[in-house]
This record gives sequence, structure tokens and C-alpha cells, in this order.
Amino acid sequence: MGSIVVERAVLSGEVEISGAKNSALPLLAAALLTEEEIVLHKVPVLSDVETMIDILRTTGKKVIFEKETNTIRISGPILHTHVPYDLVRKMRASFNVLGPIAALMGEASTPLPGGCAIGVRPVDFHIDGLKRIGFEVNYDHGEILAKRGTKLEEVTVYLPFPSVGATEHVMSAAAILPGITIIENAAMEPEIVDLQDLLNKMGAKISGAGTSKIVIEGVKKLHGCEHTVIPDRIEAGTYAIALLVTGGEGLLKNVNPSHLDALWFVLEKTGAIIKKGSDFVEVKSWNRWKACDVNVLPYPGFPTDLQPQIIVYLSLADGTSTVTENVFKTRFAHVGELVRMGADMRIMENTVFINGVNKLQGTTVMGTDLRATAALVVAGLAAEGTTEVTQVEHIFRGYENVVNKFERLGAKIKYIPGGVPEI
Ligand code: UD1
Repeated sequence: MGSIVVERAVLSGEVEISGAKNSALPLLAAALLTEEEIVLHKVPVLSDVETMIDILRTTGKKVIFEKETNTIRISGPILHTHVPYDLVRKMRASFNVLGPIAALMGEASTPLPGGCAIGVRPVDFHIDGLKRIGFEVNYDHGEILAKRGTKLEEVTVYLPFPSVGATEHVMSAAAILPGITIIENAAMEPEIVDLQDLLNKMGAKISGAGTSKIVIEGVKKLHGCEHTVIPDRIEAGTYAIALLVTGGEGLLKNVNPSHLDALWFVLEKTGAIIKKGSDFVEVKSWNRWKACDVNVLPYPGFPTDLQPQIIVYLSLADGTSTVTENVFKTRFAHVGELVRMGADMRIMENTVFINGVNKLQGTTVMGTDLRATAALVVAGLAAEGTTEVTQVEHIFRGYENVVNKFERLGAKIKYIPGGVPEI
């Protein structure tokens, strides 16, 4: 695998935020629910999106990705209901095609998914949810086989934790099943609202996304439509933190500021200056920023996908901070690497205690998953000297044109290619 080499720089300027990866993936899975054409705009060019396109193509769907315009066109029938291991192991979100294919075709099979190495990530809520809405789900030699069965006229799926993936999976499959499905303790992320918007444009009858109770009134058939993917709040948050941690200032364009309220709250508490517009945000650093305690929670709490990046920022704050991870409780692979760069922090259970230091020092560090790798690149931009982030291809799963975007903000950054990430 390759590396990114970065040097210390004060970033400034403008950055255009791409469409959200975590919206694009479930929207692509939902496109399986109709033979008619679905046109998606602002789809980011990312390796995870390419993987989902490959999955759709193995089912027989026709997919055209116009990368210059970030537009995807999906059409045609599903011809195959098995998704091969080679694709599913690359990305956890691939599991979300199981329910839609089985709902439409009567059955589907897929191996258990892979994905970012951020602790054990089971799919039990997905499977329990599918069973509640009438599927027979069996597990055999690493393969999951789902068969559509009889669904009760009204059924409630209670999620023990507001899982984003399980909420999206049940929502999409139930859209074309008879009767009413209610999801209680649903995830409330903006990407769930985006999925509801797409499904409703396709003819579904879904309400409540963005709250903890989603009501799905099943319809017989869905149809084609056009839809624009919402801005990527995690990409926006990463660039905001990068600008601030290097002592810079800048403008983020194509952002929905209300999707990141938890981040702005933390940054403002540390002393950063944040100016929010209708679809943009300006950020400006403030001398040596103050420490802050961060509690990582499902939306609208502080996002787990910005936890590694905020730890980098707080490693250079004045005072002692804590970051408590409540979504993926062992997601701390980046902490050891940051300590190697001179950060002073230690982990106790699911909390990182951070004593702010005056500087980080460049060295060779290893990317272990998508967001940890992004955080290490951000740390490298703030660290003295040169930082090499190895196994860096993880970053291309979630950050479109990342090297180019950082360059335009004034970073001295170079990608030394390796292979495609194997997770
Ligand atoms: C999605 C995001 C990911 C983000 C995460 C949490 C996509 C493509 N990925 O992942 O970037 O970090 O939400 O915001 O949208 N859990 C179970 N059983 C299950 C499902 C989940 O125990 O069946 C647990 C997980 O281990 C985790 C928690 O629930 O501790 C939340 O996971 P979930 O919200 O499902 O994350 P993903 O949908 O995989």
C-alpha cells in the first residue's frame, strides 16, 4: 500500500465539500428496488462507491458513473441474487443490499461483510430487523440467506441501539413489503433523512426520518427518479479541523451547517471562530485553543467519524481534554500513532485522556482505517517536519480528491501510490 507525505503548513482558502459517502452508499442500495432509472447527482468518486457499483453490476443492474459530473445512472432488472465474497469483504455497507434484493426478488444471499477495522461490528440488528418484517434468515458457512416470508399487517422493529445501517436496511426493504413497519429507536442521522427523501421520490410512503420513530407504509412498486446526495458532513468536519489545527482559516462550501452542530459547539468552546451561512461555514483559529471534553454519541451527538480528527485537535490544546467514545468503544487505533508523534494521551476503557502539548513531531505513522488515516494526515499538517502516513489508501474510501483539496488549501502533500486497500 502507498503513503501520503505531508509537511507542516498553515492552511487557508476555500474547499468545496463533496456529496456524502454515507448517503451515497445506501441510496445506491435502494436503487435496487426498481427497474426504472434512478439518477443520483453529487455522488463522490470514492473506492467505496466503486465497490457498491460493482455489487449492483454483479446483480445485473446497468450502472453508468459519469465521474466528471458526479452523476450515476442505475437501471434494469436484477438477474442474480447472490453477492460474491470478493466485493462484500471490502465494505460493510455492502450488507445493506441483502434486504432490498430479497424484498424484490424473494431471496438473496451474501457473505458476512468486512469494512473498516474499528472493532467488532456485528449485523445482528439487521438480521433481527429483517426477521421481524417477515424474512426467513439463515446462516450457513459464512453466508447469509434471506427469503421473503409473510409479514404481519403492522409490525414494530425496535433497535437496541440506533444503528445507522440497520435503520437504513429495514427502511429500504420494508418500503415494498405490505402493511406498516415502525422502526423504534431508529438512527436519526441526516443520511437517514436523505434515504427517506430518495425512497419517497421513488413512490415509497415513509415518514419520521430524522426522529427516533420511522413509519413505513409499504407500497407494491417503486419507480425511477432523480436525486442529489446531501453534502458530506464528515468530510466538512475533517477540513474544518484541519484548517483550525494548523492555525489557519478558511471557507467550506456546499455544507449543511446544521448537520454539524455538535462539532461547532466543541470548536467554539475551544475558542475557534465559526461563522455559519446557509450552505457554507467559515472557520478561524484562535491563538492556542482551550481543552474540551467530548462525548461521542449517535446523531445529533458528536459523530464517531470525527473522533480521531478531534483527538488530533485536542492534542494541541491548552489543558486536559477527554474524549469518550460511545458508538465504537474500541475505535482508538490512531491514539498510539499520535503518541509516537509526541502527543500526550492515554486510553482508559472507552475514554482518551489528553494532555495538550505545544507541538507534534513528524514521523512515519500507519493508517489503520478510513477516519484514523484522515486524522493522521491532519496531524501531519500540524506537526513539525515531515510526516509519512503509510497504508494510506484507506483515505480514498471516504475523501474525494483529498490530495488535491489539501494542496489547494496550501498543504505540501504528496501521494506515493501503492495498491488498492485490502481491509
Ligand atoms: C455507519 C457509518 C459509519 C459510522 C457509523 C456510526 C455508513 C456507510 N457508515 O456505520 O461511517 O461510523 O454509522 O455513525 O453509513 N451494531 C450492532 N449490531 C448491528 C449493527 C450495529 O451491535 O447489527 C453496533 C455497532 O457495533 C456499533 C453501533 O451499533 O457499536 C453503531 O453502528 P452502526 O450505526 O450500525 O454503524 P454502521 O451503520 O455500520
